[in-house]
Amino acid sequence: MLLLLACASLVDTGNGAHSTQDTATDGPAWYGDVEPIVVENCSGCHADGDVAPFPLSTYDEARPMAAAMADAVSARRMPPWKAAPGCNEYRNDLSLDDDEIARIVAWAEAGAVEGDPSRKSGATPPESTLSRVDFDLPMPEAYTPLVAPDDYRCFVLEWPETEGKYVTGYQVNPGDRGIVHHVVLYVGASENAQLYRDADAAEAGAGYTCFGGPGVVDQADAEWLGGWAPGASNGDFPNETGIYVEPGSVVVMQMHYNTAATDPVADLSSVDFMVEDSVANPAYIQPWADPAWLDGDGMTIPANSEGTTHSFSYPIPANFRIHTANLHMHTYGQTAKLSVTQGDGTEECLLDIEDWDFNWQRTHVLAEPLSVVSPTITVACSWDNPTDEALDWGEGTGDEMCLGTMLFSY
Ligand code: HEC
Repeated sequence: MLLLLACASLVDTGNGAHSTQDTATDGPAWYGDVEPIVVENCSGCHADGDVAPFPLSTYDEARPMAAAMADAVSARRMPPWKAAPGCNEYRNDLSLDDDEIARIVAWAEAGAVEGDPSRKSGATPPESTLSRVDFDLPMPEAYTPLVAPDDYRCFVLEWPETEGKYVTGYQVNPGDRGIVHHVVLYVGASENAQLYRDADAAEAGAGYTCFGGPGVVDQADAEWLGGWAPGASNGDFPNETGIYVEPGSVVVMQMHYNTAATDPVADLSSVDFMVEDSVANPAYIQPWADPAWLDGDGMTIPANSEGTTHSFSYPIPANFRIHTANLHMHTYGQTAKLSVTQGDGTEECLLDIEDWDFNWQRTHVLAEPLSVVSPTITVACSWDNPTDEALDWGEGTGDEMCLGTMLFSY
């Protein structure tokens, strides 16, 4: 598929007749029009050695891909950004607006002209904005994926602080960006820390197999700290929030390695942490799912079915602020939505994913924190199950989930 697209684009634009005389033409040029969009929204992943299969930072890299780029952005396959428009606004939104898409398409259709290099923008891919690194926790040892093409592996990182601290920001440093597909971080509270160490010790090699969660405890009881997906920058937590970590805890780092496009190589990823003794807004990650689902037979998705939905709503008699929203399903998920009905009946949308893709999960930082008053929070998911077996909630690759998570503070 990729090869076909690449070849088609070579035929479309490979006449080599680009020059700088085109600044006078009406159509958009690389410099001045297309380059800033591509550098900001594509090059974070489309760089040498990064997760995407080809680089897109310079004119020479982009020109032969112009038709494929136009196709991918028109169909909104790229950049991968799954939050549906019109639900909420996010500080880390990667998506292109209609005008940006039109500019890339018009540029490709008019022969992908270069334009005037003196109009090169100062745009850069989004970088981490972690303001300070207090310590870095690496994986205990390097790991070479054993399962192809997808290896889900949890590593136990010992928390070094001897007094309670608030995590106020973090940055995941993928060791080998070519194989690290995404990373989820969980706090293993001190009372459970030994269970995680035991799970690690029970399996040969570094880490242990886990899918969709850290294992050991129920996914809905696992305390999320955050995660990393290609193109996402981590950095400081929003709005002076911080998540408390008690001494004796562990951080469980779940790695999803994908080796579909490359040979397995050794990976040694790490996480930089910024911590404080106290924060203005102590924050918590609240998982949201029907407790009845967790028994493993309360969220049935019948065999050979399409569009099965399950939803869970529950009132919370409290007032608080929601800073981020996330949704989590496995591979048969189709749609997922996290929403709030305020105590006075006002409906608020936190996150709406109309086209679920397990590979592109990320934290959505609300542009403005949402203050809620005695809210009822709803998570709703739908699935297609093409298999001959009924599916239900579980940790395995063949199981499903429907889990919202929110970072909240009072
Ligand atoms: C979050 C990381 C990420 C970002 C940001 C991103 N890409 Fe991609 N892109 C990928 C990955 C990974 C693949 C290969 C796997 C796939 O197709 O899903 C890919 C594949 C592609 C392909 C070939 C397959 C297809 O779907 O057509 C094109 C063309 C492409 N990207 C263009 C772009 C453009 C243009 C942008 C910016 C407007 C962009 N990408 C932004 C990660 C990214």
